[in-house]
Amino acid sequence: MAETHQDTRLLAADAEGIEQAAQFLRQGALVAFPTETVYGLGADACNGEAVARIFAAKDRPQFNPLIVHVADADAAQRYAEWNDLADRLAAVFWPGPLTLVLPLRAGGGLSPLVSAGQPSVALRAPDHPVGAALLAAFGGPIAAPSANPSGRISPTRAAHVVAGLSGRIAGIIDGGACPVGVESTIVGLGDVPTLLRPGGLPAEAIEAALGVSLAAPVAGAALTSPGQLSSHYAPRAGMRLNAREARAGEVLLGFGPKVRGDQTLSASGDLTEAAAQLFDMLHALDAGGAEIIAVAPIPETGLGRAINDRLRRAAAPRGV
Ligand code: TXA
Ligand code: MG
Repeated sequence: MAETHQDTRLLAADAEGIEQAAQFLRQGALVAFPTETVYGLGADACNGEAVARIFAAKDRPQFNPLIVHVADADAAQRYAEWNDLADRLAAVFWPGPLTLVLPLRAGGGLSPLVSAGQPSVALRAPDHPVGAALLAAFGGPIAAPSANPSGRISPTRAAHVVAGLSGRIAGIIDGGACPVGVESTIVGLGDVPTLLRPGGLPAEAIEAALGVSLAAPVAGAALTSPGQLSSHYAPRAGMRLNAREARAGEVLLGFGPKVRGDQTLSASGDLTEAAAQLFDMLHALDAGGAEIIAVAPIPETGLGRAINDRLRRAAAPRGV
């Protein structure tokens, strides 16, 4: 849920509008922009708080991983463990409506919230003059899901974005109707090339370029679609939720002024800050070797719902 109402600027798809949009991104604010598929809701992919604002603006109850938009394959290789299949597909289809899911590259600088704490990242280079100009003006990776409130259909015109997100984001670049109109095709390039989501690029074209057929996603596989994943990131340590203090053998992940921990998601109780810190702090506490990570109560409102969803998954009984 957007915590404050803001004026949403409708920006022209000209040099001035694009520079203003890039400025918003640098400030950690959200901007909707046209791609050839649908309008994306963009944030600086390296800024955890900016990425957290995407989930708040969309009112998304879960931290689904987001697609990172880049200018080209060279830029993509900074963030992913690139491979030959990625090279071949990018050479044929980028820029275009194809998203590649690859192992996340360590040290690339993306916020862990972008990949929802998973060790993979989804990347694509959009084929739209306005999207491309925004990437060039901003000069970095832009995390962007479709620019609709959670559970609603994807927007293919600026007016759709206005209807869904006005008052919740800083700006919308009006670049007219999106030529493709459906989301990108998503292909996982783990051990077996897998069609994770059908989309604007026909699977047959991808299979022809690869010379092999694409597998259907397997529930529980490493690079499957997160909605189908039963366990996302689970720490090595056990978890105890709604804790107000650490017991013997526990480390405490705090939240708010009343529960300070070994790490604290947000001392002031700010859910946007907490979301931005969540995966980093869980990793850090887990790496410290504690038996149990106790976690302070998080309010079940706005981004708190997504944080709690992820904490409950991390705390769920482990598979056998
Ligand atoms: O055409 C598109 O793909 C549009 C434009 C804006 O680029 N974007 C879009 O994003 O459709 P979104 O968030 O609505 O859908 C992204 C999909 C989700 O189903 C998400 O789960 C999946 O991509 N995804 C993102 N990162 C992933 C990852 N690391 N592994 C598996 N799936 C991933
Ligand atoms: Mg979507």
